[in-house]
Amino acid sequence: MSKVIKNGTIVTADLTYKADVLIDGGQIIEIGANLNGDEELDATGCYVMPGGIDPHTHLEMPFMGTYSSDDFESGTRAALAGGTTMVVDFALPNPGESLLDALKRWDNKSTRANCDYSFHMAVTWWGEQVFEDMKTVIETRGINTFKHFMAYKGALMVNDDELYASFQRLSELGGIAMVHAENGDVVAELSAKLLAEGNTGPEAHAYSRPPQVEGEATNRAIMIADMAGVPLYVVHTSCEEAHEAIRRARMQGKRVWGEPLIQHLTLDESEYFNSDWDHAARRVMSPPFRNKQHQDSLWAGLQSGSLSVVATDHCAFTTEQKRSGVGDFTKIPNGTGGLEDRMPMLWTHGVETGRLTPNEFVAVTSTNIAKILNCYPKKGAVLAGADADLVVWDPNKTKTLSASSQQSAIDYNVFEGHAVKGLPRYTLTRGHVAVEDGTMSCQEGHGKFVEREANSTLNKALSTWKELTAPRPVERSGIPATGV
Ligand code: URP
Ligand code: ZN
Ligand code: ZN
Ligand code: ZN
Repeated sequence: MSKVIKNGTIVTADLTYKADVLIDGGQIIEIGANLNGDEELDATGCYVMPGGIDPHTHLEMPFMGTYSSDDFESGTRAALAGGTTMVVDFALPNPGESLLDALKRWDNKSTRANCDYSFHMAVTWWGEQVFEDMKTVIETRGINTFKHFMAYKGALMVNDDELYASFQRLSELGGIAMVHAENGDVVAELSAKLLAEGNTGPEAHAYSRPPQVEGEATNRAIMIADMAGVPLYVVHTSCEEAHEAIRRARMQGKRVWGEPLIQHLTLDESEYFNSDWDHAARRVMSPPFRNKQHQDSLWAGLQSGSLSVVATDHCAFTTEQKRSGVGDFTKIPNGTGGLEDRMPMLWTHGVETGRLTPNEFVAVTSTNIAKILNCYPKKGAVLAGADADLVVWDPNKTKTLSASSQQSAIDYNVFEGHAVKGLPRYTLTRGHVAVEDGTMSCQEGHGKFVEREANSTLNKALSTWKELTAPRPVERSGIPATGV
């Protein structure tokens, strides 16, 4: 059964125009005037945009002694409710575990997904096996992005020698390096000092991770990536110090991308000083929320192009889970939700305020992500032949965000009480209408894994340049005799 989206205005990363969109077999078949299909979806007064892609989620993730509460079913349902049609989750090997075994666990969890998804592979330890597995993961699994945690000392953190070895391997294989950039050694020292001084509450989490730890690690990762010759994607860029390092690198022609989160763009550090322990702990994540100057820097980065995409780092823990850190802030599970709210919050605080154009909104929530991760134009595009992952966006629809009406499994919402303007009228996942005016009709298990090849055009360009400028001996005609 074909469907046609009629009377809407198509908004892509670079064009705005009136046309109908014909869909069949899960794909866009035709774009043009006066199209007809078996079923009509009315987009009068709406924008027809590529569905959002969230490049950074943690669904049912084992972390800090527990599991994040949204799994692939509730997480992707929340995504669709907010206009996001693809999520990219991180597969995390245990210490000593092969990358392929970790992927098996993620394969099992993701069978319930309501929308399409892909995985990033995390490198949480280093050894011969990881070195070998990286090739298999890239070549047989269609995963080209590998994340490294420079924080969480004693758990997920890798050191500089491991970082350099892994980045070099990725350079050889045509992959992309990702980093959680915070100096884990300094965070551990600051945390111990704060606890010893009696700073045990959630506010101390923010004190233990100042912008300097993020700026330093971001700069270090950029320099190591440059030496290894690999493109670098910096996740959850939250402050000017990290943004400055990314901005500078990009100005120098380095292949680096920065990913601010909707939380850092719209919520600030005052949340941690709330007198209600639960309120503050629910917002504990790494890096922590920052002040308004840092927020302005992130918005400016999106406007100028020095920052490329907006994610959520959706990693939702219930209040009960957060309470395991009462009396010791280092035990509060790190992470916040946002999958359902990223698109409406970014539209409200970005497009409605004039900070972003609708086209820039599409770029940072979808198209740039698909291009960087190498699944464009299957995803992130309104083009004939692309997957029909689409959102029919009503710019006049309003709602007040609240835990009481959200899809996420947790019992609160960090954006509670925020009024948003701009919401999906329809969300389509490969042609299936999963959301219609707030009514959900998801199909559990509908989501498919999206393979992403290595050796993108950007990898090829970077390796060509690196090869051209690599050290080589100077050919000399006359070599003086030694000992003269
Ligand atoms: O606090 C956070 N960000 N939790 C999720 C894991 C990570 O660091 O991305
Ligand atoms: Zn992280
Ligand atoms: Zn994360
Ligand atoms: Zn708001």
